[in-house]
Amino acid sequence: MDMSQRFTAAAVPLSGVSPPVGARGEFPILAVPHPDGKPLVYLDSAASAQKPQAVLDALMRTYTSAYANVHRGMHHLANLATADYEQARERVRAFLNAEHAEEIIFTGGSTDALNLVASSFAEPMLEAGDEVLVSIFEHHANIVPWHFLRERKGVRLRWAMCDEAGRFGLEDFRRAFSERVKLVAVTHMSNVTGAVLPVKEIIALAHERGVPVVVDGSQAAVHGRVDVRELGCDFYAVTGHKLYGPSGVGALYGKRELLRRMRPWRGGGEMIREVTLDDVSYAEPPHRFEAGTPPIAQAVGLGAALEWLQAWGWERVVSHEAALRAHALECLHGVEGVRLIGVPPADGALDAEAGAIVSFVAEDAHAHDIATALDHYGVAVRAGHHCAQPLMSHFGVDATARASFALYNDHDDVEALARSLRDGLKLFR
Ligand code: ALA
Repeated sequence: MDMSQRFTAAAVPLSGVSPPVGARGEFPILAVPHPDGKPLVYLDSAASAQKPQAVLDALMRTYTSAYANVHRGMHHLANLATADYEQARERVRAFLNAEHAEEIIFTGGSTDALNLVASSFAEPMLEAGDEVLVSIFEHHANIVPWHFLRERKGVRLRWAMCDEAGRFGLEDFRRAFSERVKLVAVTHMSNVTGAVLPVKEIIALAHERGVPVVVDGSQAAVHGRVDVRELGCDFYAVTGHKLYGPSGVGALYGKRELLRRMRPWRGGGEMIREVTLDDVSYAEPPHRFEAGTPPIAQAVGLGAALEWLQAWGWERVVSHEAALRAHALECLHGVEGVRLIGVPPADGALDAEAGAIVSFVAEDAHAHDIATALDHYGVAVRAGHHCAQPLMSHFGVDATARASFALYNDHDDVEALARSLRDGLKLFR
């Protein structure tokens, strides 16, 4: 993530926040009113983003004119589908600025990608007593695979903590970095608070000690430019459905020399070189890691989504979302009984190093009740532990309500959230 861009973006004045021209109009689902007749205010994009027409068109085109299995057939449709699938891989490569297309593995999502790294890379490398260093901001997808290794191999998890207000710095990471740490697995952006971690510095620190780094980019890749070569990470995971693409597809970037040394984690069709009665040899990456029929149309849809997203230009994306976040913090600060979670109180509204995600709790209502109340106003937010239970306990809550913003949101959406919240909370007093 380009932090200088984020900083500049945060300076955008709060007034006049508007979505990049036409963004909302490109999302057919946003024109479907809520059953109560209210216009839909969709603030749950960190869970899953809506899909622009360009992505829907790519899916329809694939299924109506270019669909067959890939890398298996010699016929016309198979050739078309294979070309489109590989073009999508090239789009992911360009999106992440990886050097080689074979460094991009299509997966079922980022959960799948992180499990792949745990099974194929970490498990053979780690021994009992070795530590995997994670941050307190991790989603369960970047915790549970390491717990599997704890259970299977006696590996230990080590945690870098943030302070009570959600501030986190490189020092926190340095402090947690013991001699036994053999792998760093860290999110680029919290799905709960939007905090952006200093991953470039974390990677440099880890590499000084010869420790490889896997980055969970599920949230960050949506909100700012990611350059895996500039970051220097060993692995970077993204997921399609948060990137305005289809669900069921994601990608793992891995350095070519590492992928070549790794064993496959799933066995099946198209990942082999040869199978005999008593032996098997494996294809080169990326196919070694794509056993079975891959998510063909979904990958093509993801390619279309990345093209669509990049066409906005990162500067516009970043400044639009930073302004929305700042506006949301300002509006929510003004709602009686509401407490923001993981936002430093004094400088919250000026927090430049965070994505467009805001979590909050209320004195009088549980997060689930808040979300249910907001739904009556047509405002969709997520409530719960957000698959980040360690972070919830760190903040001393069991759940939060979370509003997350995307390119199709505008300042009216932010104000609808604050207004509905103010009104809805009256019911609980
Ligand atoms: N990881 C998704 C979220 O944060 C589902 O809501």
